[in-house]
Amino acid sequence: MVDTVPWKGARVIGISRKPSPAAEHLEADLADPSSWAALGDAFRQELSGFAGDRVVFVHAAGAVGPIGFAEELDTDAYTASVLLNSAAPQVVGQLFLAAARNVAAHRHLVMLTSGAASSVYPGWAVYGAGKATIDQWVRDVGAEQATRGGAQVLAVAPGAVETGLQEQLRETSEEEFPKRQKFLDLHKEGKLSDPYDTATAIWGLLGRDLDSGSVIDLRELANPAG
Ligand SMILES: NC(=O)c1ccc[n+]([C@@H]2O[C@H](COP(=O)([O-])OP(=O)(O)OC[C@H]3O[C@@H](n4cnc5c(N)ncnc54)[C@H](OP(=O)(O)O)[C@@H]3O)[C@@H](O)[C@H]2O)c1
Repeated sequence: MVDTVPWKGARVIGISRKPSPAAEHLEADLADPSSWAALGDAFRQELSGFAGDRVVFVHAAGAVGPIGFAEELDTDAYTASVLLNSAAPQVVGQLFLAAARNVAAHRHLVMLTSGAASSVYPGWAVYGAGKATIDQWVRDVGAEQATRGGAQVLAVAPGAVETGLQEQLRETSEEEFPKRQKFLDLHKEGKLSDPYDTATAIWGLLGRDLDSGSVIDLRELANPAG
């Protein structure tokens, strides 16, 4: 498997709270703003003297919870979700671009977004608002980068993917999340994408001529007529 991955030859470093056996790991709780500066240090350290031909930062970290109507949720959990979903992508994205600024290589910043950025999902306000923030940040910063011939900045909505996030949706009550049935049906009908296929499709975007600042839905790229 490792020999056949599309990103074969790339050094992969995961950033999250829990390590994965599949990659080098940098521990960070992105809901805690005090963790962000250390990531900036890590980006600068990794990229000083970088000799590769492509540097890619995929900001996938996010959380769909807490799910529920805003006024019923715990304010501390709500605040943590705002920091993780809305603030961290902007600040960590900025830190990456600053650290990669003088690197003589193709530079890519890919942010994971969602249809929730523009569709109404009661119970998901903090998540949807975070994704809408990402989309607009990518449009603006992507245009800045294009002006100066800098990094390619993209937001990518992957469609429904069979991950822990989808499990969490299925386990939520209809009262907290009235559109839950849609996700139960997608699961039952086998319509959730495989995470490896999704990662492969996202990696495939890096070789395409896509304008910096684009907000892309992987499902539309796969079925342009649909
Ligand atoms: N799955 C879908 O259907 C779907 C659809 C549209 C968009 N997306 C987006 O795709 C991205 C990945 O989602 P997923 O489906 O893989 O969700 P997931 O299964 O819930 O995984 C979330 C990822 O974010 C990390 N994370 C969560 N809280 C974090 C924190 N406080 N600090 C650092 N890392 C944190 C987790 O790692 P740790 O737990 O180790 O911290 C994990 O790697 C998200 O941005 C999500 O919004 C997913």
